[in-house]
Amino acid sequence: MTGVPYMMECRGVWKIYNEGRPHEVRALVDINIAVRKGSLTVLTGPSGSGKTTLVGIMGTIERPSRGRVYLEGREITGFSDVALSMIRRERTGLVFQNFNLLPGVPAWENVAYPLIPQGVREGERRRRAVELLSALGLAARVDHPPEELSGGEQQRVAIARALVNDPDMIILDEPTSNIDAGTALQVLEILKGLKREGKTLILSTHDSDLFGEADEIYRLKGGVLEGGG
Ligand SMILES: Nc1ncnc2c1ncn2[C@@H]1O[C@H](COP(=O)(O)OP(=O)(O)O)[C@@H](O)[C@H]1O
Ligand SMILES: [Mg+2]
Repeated sequence: MTGVPYMMECRGVWKIYNEGRPHEVRALVDINIAVRKGSLTVLTGPSGSGKTTLVGIMGTIERPSRGRVYLEGREITGFSDVALSMIRRERTGLVFQNFNLLPGVPAWENVAYPLIPQGVREGERRRRAVELLSALGLAARVDHPPEELSGGEQQRVAIARALVNDPDMIILDEPTSNIDAGTALQVLEILKGLKREGKTLILSTHDSDLFGEADEIYRLKGGVLEGGG
């Protein structure tokens, strides 16, 4: 399997919300995309063009209405929910646009949360979380809950949580849209560092500062994908 050049592929993928009902939405139309291992792939396009839906399918939190999805050359489309959650736990790190952090819970516990189902003990969970948060410049914030953090700090906590399982694929939905320009540059540096480590990165963004680092840029328009290679 390691000989497969692609980490993630979508073949003929459609997503139709409320299919067959009057308020049917064709969010994705016959998407074909292949993401090379170790590459940084950018998905761009206007609001409502299907970016979140597509990264959700590549992150296995959404299922396509039609088409096939492959992880490292292996078709995962028909996998059970349990099998898909195992893939998320072991292979992928997801960073959501709204961060999805648990309120009232210290930053380190937010980061360490994915380690609980793996049976990692609390001392080790805290050690790993603090190490990641420190690497992202948040050593002084490890015991603060999200509501005491700035948007940019919350974004870095969300990134640290996505990295805690040492995933080989990291998917970020508009990682710089809810943070200020200065913090966006820090996020860009984090992404560059992850790429140097050989991680596969997929991100949706409006932010043209991120385009310069991209190996492939795809544009979505009304659920249809243009560009890329
Ligand atoms: N759960 C849902 N149910 C129905 N329609 C949805 C749902 N999620 C997204 N959509 C619709 O699908 C289209 C694509 O949405 P989305 O993937 O969120 O686009 P983007 O992230 O580019 O803004 C939009 O028209 C949106 O209204
Ligand atoms: Mg979106």
